[in-house]
Amino acid sequence: MECKVVQGEIEKLPVDTIISSLFEGVQEPGGATGSIDRSINGLIRELISSGDITGKLGSVSVIYPRGLIPANRVLLVGLGKRDNLDMENIRIASAQAIKKARELNAKDVATVIHGSGSGGFSHAAASQAVIEGSLLGIYRFDQLKSSEETGADINTLTLVEFDPTKLAEVHTSVTNTQKIIQGVFLTRDLVNLPPNMATPTHLAQTAQQIADEFDMKITIGDREWAKNNRMGAYLGVAKGAGEPPKFIIMEHNSSREDLETIVLVGKGITFDTGGISIKPSEKMEEMKTDMAGAAAVIGTMKVVGMLNLPLRIIAITPCTENMPDAQAYRPADVITASNGKTIEIISTDAEGRLILADALVYAKKYAPKAVIDLATLTGACVVALGKNTAAGMFCNDNTLSDKLSRSGDKTHERVWPLPLWDEYRKNIESNVADIKNSGGRNSGVSSSAIFLKEFIDYPWAHLDIAGMALSEKDEGYTPLGGTGYGVRLLVDLLQNW
Ligand code: BES
Ligand code: MN
Ligand code: ZN
Repeated sequence: MECKVVQGEIEKLPVDTIISSLFEGVQEPGGATGSIDRSINGLIRELISSGDITGKLGSVSVIYPRGLIPANRVLLVGLGKRDNLDMENIRIASAQAIKKARELNAKDVATVIHGSGSGGFSHAAASQAVIEGSLLGIYRFDQLKSSEETGADINTLTLVEFDPTKLAEVHTSVTNTQKIIQGVFLTRDLVNLPPNMATPTHLAQTAQQIADEFDMKITIGDREWAKNNRMGAYLGVAKGAGEPPKFIIMEHNSSREDLETIVLVGKGITFDTGGISIKPSEKMEEMKTDMAGAAAVIGTMKVVGMLNLPLRIIAITPCTENMPDAQAYRPADVITASNGKTIEIISTDAEGRLILADALVYAKKYAPKAVIDLATLTGACVVALGKNTAAGMFCNDNTLSDKLSRSGDKTHERVWPLPLWDEYRKNIESNVADIKNSGGRNSGVSSSAIFLKEFIDYPWAHLDIAGMALSEKDEGYTPLGGTGYGVRLLVDLLQNW
């Protein structure tokens, strides 16, 4: 779908579908909705007073103007109560409207910029929310379906602005937001792609393409490379893998040591069977999403390249499958991470923290201002915070956690602080090694974070995204499947660093 921006009156545009909006409780619409209403002889006001149109958030009414204006249909979407309007409601309303348009086989759609008029949001912010909601809402993963099965698509979406002095601002915002969304789409695609296709090799190829396109430095470490770097924790997990493991490092502005360095780390388990500590078969298919951290980091790097952000940004994504095998690592094994710490394996299903350990040690060599890791690390985090609500955030630096919280609220890719208290350290004490990789049932999410803390000595945030990677239903601007969580959060953080 192509996005355009034009100046004008929406009701005069030669498109098949126009989208406008209404606050809940408004009887006499003003602005663009008011003008549309006048050109279709007051039909909107009539439907409001009869109670057919309520303005409830996300409700969509279809109105047929039958020749009074060029468009075949007007979609009126509810923005909810005026006082509750925020970016998130604009995203949701935009998504509901465009999904309805697609259902009705619309081809050329024009929309007002919800919230930019009487809503009181800047044109840049409102345009961003409209584009985000619209594009994210109609995303589909259909690469693996035969063509007859995929539905029709909308060709163009035109944002219409009446005030010519705001046009440049809208334009810039639309262009930048489209770039961000391309990163989210890449992440969603990678997460949705099945584990026989989204292999470590495929992730490495994807990273390679981005690096080539945006002139980034890239290292794709194989088993040999990891051995040379003494990554015994990462290699332990990879021992049973049939697919070749890939330890991927991308560097944007690689040689610009004058710039502040941010390192992004993403867990890239392309399928988590649990290994010898095998998982139950029920819902095991969801473990194809165990590379969502790596996917988010790779998607973010695509945006970093497209926006050419003025920071030195390093992405580290350790990738491998976690499989049971005669060669696989076992419970009771002791392995040695690249910082020399010995780790007793209690569960081969606590593999994420092991591959992250070597990645976090490796991050140190970039002298980072901050390191942020994203990982589908624990079921315990989902138990604590729920699904699709917020990522659990563990952070040793208040400035960094404040920045993440702010970006999380703004993008609605939220994070919520969880404790890293020293008391949790005893959970991972081992009788035979320095530490063990699983701390039992209690405070499982903090045990995992305190484990990671053994491998860092810089400002650091760990985001447990286990509950955020996958959506079980099509809701608002999040279709069923991979959510792309993390890309918008990280891009906003980096843009405002
Ligand atoms: N990948 C899983 C965590 C997970 C669970 C992600 C549910 C998404 C949804 C992780 O590798 C894992 O298996 N964690 C174990 C840790 C335990 C063995 C200490 C868990 O949470 O049960
Ligand atoms: Mn696991
Ligand atoms: Zn896992």
